[in-house]
Amino acid sequence: MKQNDELTVKIEKFSNLGTGIAKVEGQIVFVENACPEDVVKIKITKVNKNYASAKTLEVITPSPNRTEPFCPMQKVCGACQMQFIDYDYQLKLKKQIVEDAMRIIGHIDTPVNDPIASPEIKNYRHKIQYPVSQTKNSGRIIAGYFKPQSHEIVNIKYCPIQPEICDEIIEFIRENAPKFNITGFNEKKHTGDLRHVVIRSSAYNGKCLVTLVINGTKIFDRLNKFAKAIFETFENIVGVCINFNSKKTNVILGQNTECLYGQNFVEEKLLDKTFKIGADTFFQINPRSAENIFKYVKDEISKHKNPTVLDAYAGIATFGIAISDVAEKVISVEENKASIEKAQEVLRENGINNLELYAQDTTKYLKSVKRKFDITVLDPPRKGCTQEALDETLAHTKEKIIYVSCNPATLARDLKYLSEKGCTVKSIQPFDMFCHTYHIENVAIISF
Ligand SMILES: C[S@@+](CC[C@H](N)C(=O)[O-])C[C@H]1O[C@@H](n2cnc3c(N)ncnc32)[C@H](O)[C@@H]1O
Repeated sequence: MKQNDELTVKIEKFSNLGTGIAKVEGQIVFVENACPEDVVKIKITKVNKNYASAKTLEVITPSPNRTEPFCPMQKVCGACQMQFIDYDYQLKLKKQIVEDAMRIIGHIDTPVNDPIASPEIKNYRHKIQYPVSQTKNSGRIIAGYFKPQSHEIVNIKYCPIQPEICDEIIEFIRENAPKFNITGFNEKKHTGDLRHVVIRSSAYNGKCLVTLVINGTKIFDRLNKFAKAIFETFENIVGVCINFNSKKTNVILGQNTECLYGQNFVEEKLLDKTFKIGADTFFQINPRSAENIFKYVKDEISKHKNPTVLDAYAGIATFGIAISDVAEKVISVEENKASIEKAQEVLRENGINNLELYAQDTTKYLKSVKRKFDITVLDPPRKGCTQEALDETLAHTKEKIIYVSCNPATLARDLKYLSEKGCTVKSIQPFDMFCHTYHIENVAIISF
C-alpha cells in the first residue's frame, strides 16, 4: 500500500478521532467520512509505519446508519465529523470509543453505560471561537473553522449547531470590519488586527457576550468605534470585550481582557442557579446537556448525608454551586483567578454561604491543608490529572471520587492509576455534550 493508491474497503470500526477503520493487507487504515458497515472507495493520503490514512472518494454501499448531513459544509468544515451518521448510532459509536479506551488504556472492566443523549442536537453549541483572516487580493474578511489538519479557514456563513444570532454577528463583523479599517490576522506574517471572534451565548436568555481577540496590547480608536458599532447593532449583545493576544501562539486568548461596552458576562441558568460567564472563564458549551451532568452528580452526592465536598478544577464553581444545597460544606478550587472572581459574585447573588473558593492549583491547595472531604469532584482539562494530584486527592478523600472528564483516554489512564492504588470504579456514564463530533463527556464514580 502506498500514497495515492485507490482501493475499495469495508469499514470495520470507528476510531477515537472520528474516522472509520478498515484493514488492508493486515494494516490499519483510518478513513475520513466513513462509518462502520460502509463499503467505500478510498484514496491513501499517508502511509506510516503502523497505519495509513485515507479519504473517501465514493460510498459504494452505504451503512444503514448513514443519514444526510443537515449542514452543507459538513465535509469541508471538519467540526462535525459524525454528522452524516444517524444520531442514535453516533451514541453507540461513542460508547464504543469509551469502552475501547477503558479496555486498552485503563485495563478497566467496569461496564460503560449507554450515553445520555444531548437534549438538543442542533443549535446546542453556546460558545464559538472563530479564527479571522482576510483574503490576499480583495482583502475580504473571512471567519470560520480551520479545515481538518490545517490552518486554512473555512469561511462559515451558516452553522446549524450554534444559535442563529452567532451567524448574524459574525456576518456583521465580516461586512463591517473593513469600514473601520480593522484588518484580519495573517498568521504567517503575524500582522493584522483581528485574530479571533469569541461569542458566548446564553441558553437561558439568548443574550451574547462578544470578545474580539486582537493582535495588539492596547485599545485604538478604530477598534473602539468598531466595538461600539457591534454593541449598538444587536439588542441581544450585552457586552463587547477586547482580549489582547500579540504572542506567536495557537492559544486563542491572551492574559488580559478589557470590557469596552456593556457588561463582561452573560448569565446562564442551570438547576435553578444563575451563573455568570465571562470572556475567559470556562463554562460547558452545551448548557442543556451540562444540566444533565450536574443533576447526575448532585443525585450521587445526595446519597450521602450532609457530606463535605471538594470541587476541584472548579471553573466558576459550577459543580460546587449546583450541589451546594445537598452538601454541608463545599470547597471549590480553581487556578484561574477571573473564574474565581465570577464565582464570588454568583455565590452572593444565589445567597450561597456554605461554599469556600480558592484561586489555586489543585495539588498545591491539597498539599497546604490537613482537612479531608467525604467526596471529591474532579473535573480537569483534557490532559487529565497528574499522578501527584491523584495522590493528594486520595489522601484527602474519605468515601468517593466523582471524576468528570471530556477525554476518555486520559480518564482511562487516571482510572488505571486509581485502581492500582486500591480504588474501585463503580460506574462510567457517558453524556453527549458535543453532538456530531467524536468528543464525549464521562462521569466515573470511584469508591475506596
Ligand atoms: C474542564 S474545566 C471544568 C470547569 C468546571 N468544573 C465546569 O464544569 O464548568 C477545567 C478547569 O480546570 C482549571 N484548571 C486547570 N488546571 C488546573 C489546576 N492545576 N488546578 C486548578 N484548576 C485547574 C481550568 O482553568 C478550568 O477552569
